[in-house]
Amino acid sequence: MQPQFIIIHQQVAPYVAHIQLNRPKELNALNLELMTELRDALKALDADDNVRVIIISGNEKAFAAGADIKQMAGKTAMDMYNIDQFSTWDTIKKTKKPLIAAVSGFALGGGCELVMLCDMIVASETARFGQPEIKIGVMPGAGGTQRLTRAVGKALAMEMVLTGRFISAEEALRAGLINRIVPVELFLKEAIQLASEVAALSPLAVKMAKESVLKAFDSSLEEGLHFERKNFYLLFASDDQKEGMQAFVDKRAPVFKGK
Ligand code: CAA
Repeated sequence: MQPQFIIIHQQVAPYVAHIQLNRPKELNALNLELMTELRDALKALDADDNVRVIIISGNEKAFAAGADIKQMAGKTAMDMYNIDQFSTWDTIKKTKKPLIAAVSGFALGGGCELVMLCDMIVASETARFGQPEIKIGVMPGAGGTQRLTRAVGKALAMEMVLTGRFISAEEALRAGLINRIVPVELFLKEAIQLASEVAALSPLAVKMAKESVLKAFDSSLEEGLHFERKNFYLLFASDDQKEGMQAFVDKRAPVFKGK
């Protein structure tokens, strides 16, 4: 079935797919249906050998202005428990291939949380990041208090979560939340460029490297180092390792096959 709230561009560059959130009138508010479509699309692209990196974007005005407040407003705690709207996020979080967020305009609440679930973030100079849930009587629920704090530190995370203040792309870059800022007309192009750089490398090494970096967030140093070392050794079972190292010795460009 054709998705209704996202657009899937299968190949925007070799091995690069792009998912565009597409509820422009609602500033891409993340309703349950959109999140389900996003989860299903990511699952399919993660299993597709012709895709090595996935970009998620909104449009120039908004990446996403958060979870759909109108859909949630009348819900009881038991409704929320039964619907368990964040369970889709658990699957998205398991995506093995790198996710790049291309952000322009608002990335708020669940929008900011979705951005932070991605592995690298390219922002336009108009991007605004925030966790404004406190202003509507709740708090972040899809990772905001945890991922934001890990990304920018306690002081700024507390301020953003407790006041709902939005930060600019400049402030986000200074705080270490995002990777780079480009003029608004280039934000998607830059994300595709970055994705292509990664897509040219060994997809096995890339997946294991992603997994290892993420391990740093929920393990002790010792445990993380052990995990990293195992992945490093494991990559010597791949053809890509043989090809990458032989190409270096031969002074030629490697051709990675993901095997
Ligand atoms: N949910 C539902 N609809 C939303 C929405 C949201 N999160 N954000 C914007 N919209 C809708 C507006 O209701 C409006 O619809 P109508 O034209 O039908 O009235 C349309 O999008 C355009 O929005 P505005 O007219 O408000 O546009 P603006 O430029 O004046 O303001 C804004 C932009 C500052 C982003 C403002 O829309 C806003 O504050 N949005 C809500 C942000 C927010 O609180 N996000 C957190 C949601 S809770 C959450 O995300 C929980 C979680 O942890 C997952």
